[in-house]
Amino acid sequence: MPVSLSGRNFLKLLDYTPNEIRYLLDLSRNFKDLKRTGTPHRYLEGKNIVLLFEKTSTRTRCAFEVGGMDLGMGVTYLDPGSSQMGKKESIEDTARVLGRMYDGIEYRGFAQEIVEDLAANAGVPVWNGLTTEFHPTQMIADIMTVEENFPQGVKGLKLVFMGDAQNNVANSLMVVCSKLGMHFVACGPKDQMPEQDLVNQCKEIAAQEGGSVTLTENVDEAAAGAHVIYTDIWVSMGEESDELWKKRIELLEPYRVTQEVMDKADKDAIFMHCLPSFHDTKTTVGKQIAEKFGIDEMEVSDEVFEGPRSRVFDEAENRMHSIKAIMYATLK
Ligand code: CP
Ligand code: NVA
Repeated sequence: MPVSLSGRNFLKLLDYTPNEIRYLLDLSRNFKDLKRTGTPHRYLEGKNIVLLFEKTSTRTRCAFEVGGMDLGMGVTYLDPGSSQMGKKESIEDTARVLGRMYDGIEYRGFAQEIVEDLAANAGVPVWNGLTTEFHPTQMIADIMTVEENFPQGVKGLKLVFMGDAQNNVANSLMVVCSKLGMHFVACGPKDQMPEQDLVNQCKEIAAQEGGSVTLTENVDEAAAGAHVIYTDIWVSMGEESDELWKKRIELLEPYRVTQEVMDKADKDAIFMHCLPSFHDTKTTVGKQIAEKFGIDEMEVSDEVFEGPRSRVFDEAENRMHSIKAIMYATLK
């Protein structure tokens, strides 16, 4: 049966079937080809979108902006301080106003229920550009990147997330891997694992699709035979504090992705990271952490980040192609 996502929201991948995810992946690859060959694709000329950001961003914002413009759309960016939303106007009212003016709304911010609430009231497609719980647009770019490296298909591949396995990226990877029949492993301390309800839900999906979900504290067991080793920052946006950094560094240092970890994985294994990453001290935060805690790399060693197995910049580029696919599929 042909897939149509016209008019749909894109809030979390639990709402999407494996077939629909597959469709978005194929479309993303097509958009990448169009961009590479310089073929114009202003398929959504005359439409307008608004990007609501309550947290900072480089990749997601730029992918929506360039993607929107390549598709011929008008794009408005509202930064964390410059809309009335939340402070003087409820989410419901904001959604009803923006839905009258725009054809689609992107939201990056806090609780998942905010983006769900926006979608329930906007009357136009709403896309989740990251919440505390999920980061679904990232997933289409990530699986697209995995497929570029494993063209035989992702089903049956082992993807290991190391570190803060309870964050939005880890949750979303667990969902997408389960939907696509992959073997997902969350590797980190017991206290930093995804919520049990979500784990149970994903285990059920994975079982139907021929994949699996495993939680482990054991790095050797996790890395053995892995095709993808993935990590993310140890403290996410919205939760930063000195005490938390201290606690997370103590907890998560054994889960840093080092060359030793990569050497335990499959010989063709790749390293992935949604970015931004603290792999050196060339950032303000990286410098402060080095001064306070005496470490100059965090979730991944600079050697791995810069090494031959790293695919992090392909992954970042793919954000644009995949976000374009998501917008096109839901707005056409
Ligand atoms: N990966 C990602 O979402 O990056 P930004 O925070 O820069 O958007
Ligand atoms: N877990 C990170 C992802 C950033 C893209 C955060 O929420 O800050």
